[in-house]
Amino acid sequence: MTQTNTIPVIAIDGPTASGKGTVAHRVALKLGFHYLDSGALYRLTALSALRHQVALNDEHALSKLAERLPCRFAGDQVWLANENVTAAIRAEEVGNTASKIASLPNVRHALVGLQLGFRQPPGLVADGRDMGTVIFPHASLKVFLTASVEARAERRYKQLIDKGFPANMTNLLKDLKERDERDSNRAVAPLKPAEGAHTLDTSRMTADEAVEQVLKWYAAVRKHA
Ligand code: DC
Repeated sequence: MTQTNTIPVIAIDGPTASGKGTVAHRVALKLGFHYLDSGALYRLTALSALRHQVALNDEHALSKLAERLPCRFAGDQVWLANENVTAAIRAEEVGNTASKIASLPNVRHALVGLQLGFRQPPGLVADGRDMGTVIFPHASLKVFLTASVEARAERRYKQLIDKGFPANMTNLLKDLKERDERDSNRAVAPLKPAEGAHTLDTSRMTADEAVEQVLKWYAAVRKHA
């Protein structure tokens, strides 16, 4: 076993707007672990593609963009080259584009090394769609966080309004359903619970309750390690 493999990883996967970002981030803070928002890497690639007007079916050009992504994470701020893109990557257009390009195997492949690099001592909480199935299959703890499509649309609506983006509930529900369909049915690394994952339905839970549950599961894993 290499040294990296002994660094604990908590993999938190789930559909868009399931609250996994908030939960994963808070769990990381509580444990003093690093945090990987893998969706941000797909969003950064999407933003870069939109900015460079790269066709969304040009897998070769998109994977080159992903491979050489000049990104930097500083606290909760995300940079692409010299630009702070923390807000820009959260726009719905960028999310939808990210979901489309994420179905391309070479784009996914180009982002693997970057994701593995986040596994640093004392540990990592990784949030995404394939953290427990593909990127960190030997994670100490795997969680599949979900919520009803209505609860997720409501959360996304609030998030967008809070950030000053326009939002429309009907369109959001439609987009979420389409994105779920695309993320779950793609040929490569589809969204599904990893083997041995604990499923957590957060439709009627606060973020703090979800965090509490994940921490309890992790404490139990550590006790038996
Ligand atoms: O979690 P998010 O909404 O920020 O992710 C944006 C898109 O990126 C999502 O629709 C699917 C894709 N994605 C992925 O395919 N694999 C990941 N590990 C994370 C995100």
